[in-house]
Amino acid sequence: MNNFIFKRLNVKEFYEAETKKLVENGHEFHLRLERTGYVIHTCNPQAIKEILLKGDKFPKYDYNTSNNEDGSFFHEFVGFENVLMTNGSTWKKHRMIVNPAFKTALPSRLFGDCTRDLFKLWDNEYANEPFDSDIHNITERLTLQIIGKAAFDFDFNAILDEKSIWKQTYDGINKAASDPLFILFPILEEKFLWLFPKRQQSFKLLNEWKKMLLSIIEKKREAIQNNVDHGVEEAEKDLLTLMIESEHRGEGALSNEELLSDLIIFFIAGHDTTAFALSAAIYYLAKHPDIQEKARQEAISVLCPNGEVDEDIFPTTEDTKHFVYINQIMKETLRINGSVLFLLSPRLVTQDVNLSGVFIPKGSQINVNIHEVHHNPNVWHDPETFDPDRWASNGEAEQLAGKGMAWVPFSNGNRQCIGMNFSLLEQRVILGSLLRKYEWTLPEDSIHQDYMVNKFNLIPKPIDLKIRFKRRY
Ligand code: HEM
Repeated sequence: MNNFIFKRLNVKEFYEAETKKLVENGHEFHLRLERTGYVIHTCNPQAIKEILLKGDKFPKYDYNTSNNEDGSFFHEFVGFENVLMTNGSTWKKHRMIVNPAFKTALPSRLFGDCTRDLFKLWDNEYANEPFDSDIHNITERLTLQIIGKAAFDFDFNAILDEKSIWKQTYDGINKAASDPLFILFPILEEKFLWLFPKRQQSFKLLNEWKKMLLSIIEKKREAIQNNVDHGVEEAEKDLLTLMIESEHRGEGALSNEELLSDLIIFFIAGHDTTAFALSAAIYYLAKHPDIQEKARQEAISVLCPNGEVDEDIFPTTEDTKHFVYINQIMKETLRINGSVLFLLSPRLVTQDVNLSGVFIPKGSQINVNIHEVHHNPNVWHDPETFDPDRWASNGEAEQLAGKGMAWVPFSNGNRQCIGMNFSLLEQRVILGSLLRKYEWTLPEDSIHQDYMVNKFNLIPKPIDLKIRFKRRY
């Protein structure tokens, strides 16, 4: 496990150095030492199904009671009392309020508006000339802008102004939260913070950001209390508004601090994940021009049924329902290079169990290794090959149904990602719009020629990924 810290291996190198051989030889359970202790990782689809569907037997590792991390940056950032990290009645209380909000919020117009801003940025910078884009910087800005507006109607101005103050603040916080030194040794900041002035600065930044968020929550409550209605249609309302409205319908209640913690989780869980999924899809389309062209023809046929026009058209939710092939590309991207390598919280084994013939004693911690099951050659045929046709009707993916859970980029069961449909719609709108307006390739000198080189992290990040774009109209 120390390989990624000390040798700085990328995701593929790490997988090859640590577990690929084991997985190939059918060893689908192995131990890793992590911040919570020894954790069993599994890439066996039957075991994964059992773990994810029997949530009561395998609750999430509880950071509130299992580990005293009071005072760590991580704790201050995510708060622990939120929909992602709690279990039992506390989790239900959060999920009751959050669920209806995510059922309603499918803001395809917002996704289109943010894509329009991106096109404006590129048109201003490059006019009709081909250009190289640091694509992950772009998808991060796009998804940050989207989650700010979608979560609580906050304008980061992240697309048109890369240096916008709140974007810089959020980037600083994010960087501090993923500092491996403090992730592995939280005691350093809990007990010896005075030794780390830069870390103290990060805490200050975090407090300012949280204060800003809290004041938005208070104002929003007041506006809803006073029936201030801006006439926004339901699907385009921000999540905070929908959550407070759900309280007003008597579906539960959360304090301002609890709402804040959930909003922060939407950022952590929803921004980098979707940015990575988009960057990866764009990368695979660059690597496979034939697949890109087929996807483009689908986007054109759905968005311009009466023939191509030289103007931007942003897909509606209804349009995206006809993106069959684009959907296959997104699914295959999430398989071969998913946004989450393994579950954020390991699960606790509450009684002795037998998982696919392997005895796991009560008290163990177990995690679903998403990356490994998606690359498991005993499950997927030729797993290192990008092939959207696996997802065609009667294709390989359909034939795997009934053999456990082999595709779990969003997890599954009652703790499945609550933002899944939101993120998938976001990706469809952005990819569909991009495909019509641009063609793109991978520059010849790219370090990603052989495979997508990603920094090893729970949510990976492409290293220096440039894509060459050319406008079509
Ligand atoms: C490609 C995009 C995304 C991927 C791959 C993804 C993946 C995941 C995964 C694997 C989990 C399970 C974590 C665990 O059990 O430890 C999860 C949970 C969660 N995700 Fe996502 N996610 C994505 C986008 C989003 C978005 C856009 C949001 C919100 C705006 C979001 C909000 C959440 C929340 C709140 C949970 C916790 C649900 C619960 O435990 O009840 N995610 N996500």
